[in-house]
Amino acid sequence: MEVNIIFILGIIIISILVILWWSYWNKNKKLDTISKQLEKANIELRALDQLKNDFVSIASHELRSPMTAIRSYAWMALHKSDVPLSDKMSRYLIRVLISTERLINLVNDLLNISRIESGRIEVNPEPVDLIALIKDIIDEVYYSKSTEKNFQFVVLEKPIPKIFADPEKLRQVMLNLVGNSLKFTPIGGKIVFDFSTDGKTMEVSVKDTGIGISKDDLPKLFNKFSRLDNSYAAVSTSGGTGLGLYISKNLIELMHGKIWAASEGKGMGATFSFSLPVATKENLAHAEEFKDRAMGEAKELEPVAI
Ligand SMILES: Nc1ncnc2c1ncn2[C@@H]1O[C@H](COP(=O)(O)OP(=O)(O)O)[C@@H](O)[C@H]1O
Ligand SMILES: [Mg+2]
Repeated sequence: MEVNIIFILGIIIISILVILWWSYWNKNKKLDTISKQLEKANIELRALDQLKNDFVSIASHELRSPMTAIRSYAWMALHKSDVPLSDKMSRYLIRVLISTERLINLVNDLLNISRIESGRIEVNPEPVDLIALIKDIIDEVYYSKSTEKNFQFVVLEKPIPKIFADPEKLRQVMLNLVGNSLKFTPIGGKIVFDFSTDGKTMEVSVKDTGIGISKDDLPKLFNKFSRLDNSYAAVSTSGGTGLGLYISKNLIELMHGKIWAASEGKGMGATFSFSLPVATKENLAHAEEFKDRAMGEAKELEPVAI
């Protein structure tokens, strides 16, 4: 009797073990198939992404040459015409010039994004004097615009250490931030640059007295095509692409930094800040870790659209 019970129990236990093992094996097999499918999908997605980047890059190059020609001829027709132009004709030509300029800026930004996203941008950090770089940008590029709009630039100078960044990429970021402040601040505005550091990272802020940004819009700023007001009037007067902040965020992150924005709301001005590593002895000793090698052929950035 007892032997029978033990025998039946044994059979039950063995059956349970077989069922458990079988379901485990089956699950593993399914997981294996799913992971193989995912891997395949991933490879296909990457290939598609590469195809998209190649397409954008080729299409942009092809678009840029004719657009540059249109811009040159429109400029010559406007400024070097051998017949007097009517007011109406001058207005039309000015519109052609502005629109072509916007298209060229868009193509340049698209080229930059395709280079960044396909990892073809190289980052070569070196110790950078931030205050000198900001003063350069104010002097060289924005002097005329700022006087036109009666702007006041304030650099809150203080003894700060050099930062460890790629000067060209940093210049692109600063140009976009300053360009934005100029665009979105009415006549008579003020742009203040401030710095703070804990010795390891440097925080830089660009604060303006412009139109500000609503709380709802703040999280959208660094997305692609993030123009907050897409009305025709806004687009044609401020003439940007809505890609500058997305590019800036990518460049800052390639340089091991962070970028963010703050605003008390519409009409209250905006502050854009970023942080980057300081050129400490320790960071300089590990310079290789801050470098970013390009995948494939390295490309330079196209000039920034402002
Ligand atoms: N300083 C600023 N003040 C108010 N709004 C801003 C400021 N900087 C950026 N923005 C908003 O963020 C959007 C995205 O900026 P950006 O990516 O540089 O594109 P773009 O300059 O080509 O419009 C702008 O169109 C604008 O709506
Ligand atoms: Mg911009």
